[in-house]
Amino acid sequence: MKMNLVARTYAGLEEVLAEELKQLGAEHVKVAKRAVEYSGDKEILYKSNLWLRTALDILKPIHQFKAKSTEELYAGVSEIDWSGYLDLKKTFSVQAIVNSSYFNHSQFAALKCKDAIVDQFREKTNDRPDVDKYDPDLKIVIRISENKCSILLNSSGTPLFKRGYRKTTGDAPINEILAAGMVHLSEWDGKTPFIDPMCGSGTLCIEAGMKALNIAPGILRDDFAFQKWRDFDIELWDMLYFEAKDAITTSDVKIYGYDISEQTVRIAKNNMSSFRELRKNITFNQADFFSLEKAAENGIIITNPPYDKRIKLQDDVLFYSDMGTRLKHFWEGYDAWIISSNLSALKRIGLRPNRNIILYNGPDESKLVHLPLYKGKKGH
Ligand SMILES: C[S@@+](CC[C@H](N)C(=O)[O-])C[C@H]1O[C@@H](n2cnc3c(N)ncnc32)[C@H](O)[C@@H]1O
Repeated sequence: MKMNLVARTYAGLEEVLAEELKQLGAEHVKVAKRAVEYSGDKEILYKSNLWLRTALDILKPIHQFKAKSTEELYAGVSEIDWSGYLDLKKTFSVQAIVNSSYFNHSQFAALKCKDAIVDQFREKTNDRPDVDKYDPDLKIVIRISENKCSILLNSSGTPLFKRGYRKTTGDAPINEILAAGMVHLSEWDGKTPFIDPMCGSGTLCIEAGMKALNIAPGILRDDFAFQKWRDFDIELWDMLYFEAKDAITTSDVKIYGYDISEQTVRIAKNNMSSFRELRKNITFNQADFFSLEKAAENGIIITNPPYDKRIKLQDDVLFYSDMGTRLKHFWEGYDAWIISSNLSALKRIGLRPNRNIILYNGPDESKLVHLPLYKGKKGH
């Protein structure tokens, strides 16, 4: 049976996610704000959780109504027969996303929604399911846009960027979804040598490796919220999971990660060890970018240098302009993609980008710039 679904993501990655969804076989794919709406059956729902590299979570709308007051909100939530989704032994949580002149406190809207659910159980059974904010069995989302309310179930539970490989991180790790989005935007072919010269915990290299070897981003996880739903189809899930295991390929691609900090390199190696398959392809070594030699004649560099925020730099402008000089003189033949939220320092790289893409690393507006370093390129 087909259902409407919503995959949430970060600003700037909506088009990438829409492309991923189309490849997965989703129908009626429509880009929205920080989300993509689509339709599909249960197989598409499970595959979305297992395979989407740039989705934060997958929501399933279950009810829509209009409300301009707390009473109408309460009544709308009460229209759902919650015994179809919850029982007294299950815990739940409610997240409200409010953009409305009728309701201005999202916490309050969430509370009213919770009251309506609890009261329905109390009336029928004299008892109620408990709320668990941290690890609930059922995650409910209410979205209110002016007077339009929709109730959705979060099928992912723990956000999908928690792939399970990143055991520890360096000081300023990049989000896995953003890293995967950058790899996608760079149109890296999965074969050209890939270098992250400031790799920190190794996220960009590991995301690139997973893509190159067709490793599903959800393969290490055994906890998706839909597995606790009443209609969970364990046979279908097992089939899709083993299909994903079988889909992992081998490749000769070389992926190199470097960091100036020996300790951070150890963290990256430890994170990569979650994937036995990647050991042949990825190497992490300690090196200073400013004296690093090319490991291959041509390749792609994708990196996020320190922003001078969480990782302090003595002189951010000098660091970025030295980076530009080094790229220009030592990395000819490469294609560089650099993300930073230090926008003024990024400009000092001094190379003319042929693409500027606004993305968000958490709350920080960042820019991903594409700097082709081909021989004899204009602007060098
Ligand atoms: C923003 S972090 C990278 C985070 C990484 N993408 C991750 O997911 O963990 C920047 C990294 O650059 C490293 N770094 C700073 N100066 C460097 C240099 N001269 N050469 C190589 N690495 C450097 C830092 O040690 C830090 O790990």
